[in-house]
Amino acid sequence: MSALETSTASDEVKENLVDAYKTVTDMSWNFDYDGNIPKVHDLYTRAKTNQWNADDLEWDTVIDPSNPIMGRDSTQYSEMPFFKRLSQSQQETFTAHSTAQMLSQFLHGEQGATLTAATITHGVPDMQAKYYAATQTMDEARHVEVYDRYVNKIAIHYPINPWLKKLIDVTLQTEDYRKVMIGMNMIVEGLALGAFNNMYRQTDEPLLKSITFNVMRDESRHVSFGHAYLTPLVAKMHKDDVEDLAQYAFDGVNILVGSQTETTEGFLKVLEVSGIDPKDFGAGMKEAAEMGLLTDLPPGQVHSLKDLMIPALVRAGLITPRTKELFEGIGVPVNEDMTILHAMEDAKSDQSILNEESASY
Ligand SMILES: [Fe+2]
Ligand SMILES: [Fe+2]
Repeated sequence: MSALETSTASDEVKENLVDAYKTVTDMSWNFDYDGNIPKVHDLYTRAKTNQWNADDLEWDTVIDPSNPIMGRDSTQYSEMPFFKRLSQSQQETFTAHSTAQMLSQFLHGEQGATLTAATITHGVPDMQAKYYAATQTMDEARHVEVYDRYVNKIAIHYPINPWLKKLIDVTLQTEDYRKVMIGMNMIVEGLALGAFNNMYRQTDEPLLKSITFNVMRDESRHVSFGHAYLTPLVAKMHKDDVEDLAQYAFDGVNILVGSQTETTEGFLKVLEVSGIDPKDFGAGMKEAAEMGLLTDLPPGQVHSLKDLMIPALVRAGLITPRTKELFEGIGVPVNEDMTILHAMEDAKSDQSILNEESASY
C-alpha cells in the first residue's frame, strides 16, 4: 500500500470519530466597545493574569504501578460493602478502570465546554462578556489538552457517556445564548467542579494533582461567570421568560438525575474487566444507598448537584415556585445554602478553593 493510501485509510477511521451537526444559536456583533459589566470585567482580568501553559507541568512524572493514581481505599466505592467483598486484584482493577473511565469523561466534557464557550463568545451581545467567553474558550481548550495527554499517559480510554453527550448536545442545540450559559456554566460546570474537587482530594499522584489544581482555578471563574452575567439579567426579565429559562434548567438537571440510575456501556466495560457481575454491582450500589453512603460524602468532598448546581440556579433566580415542585418531584430538594458554592468560586483568589486548611466543607 502506498503512503497516500495509508493516510486515506487512516483519515476514514478518523472521520468516524467526528460527530457534526448544524446549530441555530444566536449570533451578535456589538459596536459598543464601552459597555462595562464590572463583575464580568473582573473575571476577564483574572483570566488574563491566570493563564497557564500545559507544557509547564511535569509530564515526565512516572506513574508507579505499585502506587496507582487512586488508592484502593480512597474512592467513593472504598467504603461500600460490595467493594470490600471483592478480591484485592479485583479492587485494584476496578479502582484503576473506574478512575480512568472518569478521566475520559473529564476529557470529553472539556471538549464540550470548548464548544459551548465558543458558542457563548459569538452569541452573547455584550462586548465584555465576549472578552470573558473568549478566555473561557482558551481555558477549555487547555483542559482538553491536559486530560488528553494524561489519558494517553495512562493508556486507558473510554467513550463519552451517552447522558453527558446528550446534556451537552441539548446545551449546544438551543437557539438562546442564555440557555447555553445555564447548561454549561451552571449545570455541566457545577458537575465538573464537584468532580474535580473530589478527584483532587482523592489522588496522591502528583501530575494528576497538579493538572486538577490548575483546571479548578479556571473552573471557579467559569462557574462565577454564570452568576455574574445571568443573575442581573434574570432579575429584569418578564416572568414568562424566566419560567422558560427555569424550565430549561430543570430539563437539564433532569437528564443528569435520570442518568444516575443507568449503567453506561463504558461502565459495563469497567465491570467486565474487573470480573464483577453487573447484577452484583447494582445490588451493591442499592445496599450502599440504603446505608447513606451515596449522600454522606467524606469530609472535603462535595456533592455537585446539591452543593453547587442547585444553589447556583437558586441564586440566579432560575428556580421558580413552579419548578421547585418539579425538582422535588424527581427527588431533588432545592438547597438554598450557598456556603460551598461561595467557597469554591471565591472571587478574591483563584487559590482559595484549594486551601484545604481554610476549607469549611
Ligand atoms: Fe474546563
Ligand atoms: Fe469550564
